[in-house]
Amino acid sequence: MIDPVVRLGGNVQLFSLLPDLTPDWPQLDVCLSACGKAVALVLPHYFGFPQSIKTVQAWCKRHQVAYVEDCSHAMFGVYDGAPIGSFGDCAIASPYKFFASENGGVLRGVHPDIDASRPAPGLRAELKAVWRSWESLLQQWHRRLSVSAGDDASPCGTDAVNEDAGISRQYDPAAEDMQALRWSRLSLHFSSVGRIAVARRQNYLAWLDVASTMPGCRPLFRELPAGVVPYMFPLWLDHPERAFYRLKRAGMPIFRWDELAVSDCNVSRAARLGLIHLPCHQGVGRAELSWMTEELRRALQEQSAA
Ligand SMILES: Cc1ncc(COP(=O)(O)O)c(C=O)c1O
Repeated sequence: MIDPVVRLGGNVQLFSLLPDLTPDWPQLDVCLSACGKAVALVLPHYFGFPQSIKTVQAWCKRHQVAYVEDCSHAMFGVYDGAPIGSFGDCAIASPYKFFASENGGVLRGVHPDIDASRPAPGLRAELKAVWRSWESLLQQWHRRLSVSAGDDASPCGTDAVNEDAGISRQYDPAAEDMQALRWSRLSLHFSSVGRIAVARRQNYLAWLDVASTMPGCRPLFRELPAGVVPYMFPLWLDHPERAFYRLKRAGMPIFRWDELAVSDCNVSRAARLGLIHLPCHQGVGRAELSWMTEELRRALQEQSAA
């Protein structure tokens, strides 16, 4: 999220979050006075759970700052009777996190020059994307869930601070202004939002059920309010060093924010390695979920025995 701002010559100020991932408002006030004139506040609805939107709107209005509603984790969902994403001065979202699409993004409240010509992916790129979709579908069908428990001989990576604050390797300048694949648009068109929402909520609740009984971990959000369509199931680990590595090596599709900008925020520092994101994607079925919960249980048992 920092890269595009840097790329456009802007400055980014990071502010601290509280343990529930809402802003530390007094610290945000300090941050605002330190940076002189701020243009916008970008605030994600982390993991699909809405921020206290009324408070955010009031703060932005008071300080004459635009509210950019970051819905990257909240493609769907309802807050106070209206869709998440309809509250900010503008909103951004990442369809590929919720649909089987490869690329593309959603912008609301931004009015690009629709007459300007923007490069579109060619036929070759479209066909490759179609092929990759089929390939991953076939892989899913044939995947055996008893994936190897991991090769402990391989290194588990190193922790380092990179002093170079340039554009990160995740940012691809070639994708600027590029239109989404037609295949991505089609996959959105043929998806059922209702089915996605129900399946994600069910999987989230299943994780909540099992994680609450496991030692050495605690769910970030212990409840799933009506209207929330979760992106992933975030779980704090007491001793993430070994458990995360073990789970990754076992083949679990889990993530964490290993690469974060250095900041004074204690919560984000802890979350970088200690908060893992478990999948509650609509494509996760019962068998996969029970395999993953067993792997998690084993990793946590090993972690607490070590
Ligand atoms: C909170 C948040 N905002 C924005 C983004 C950027 O989304 P995209 O990958 O569509 O650029 C991410 C990416 O994971 C994210 O986690």
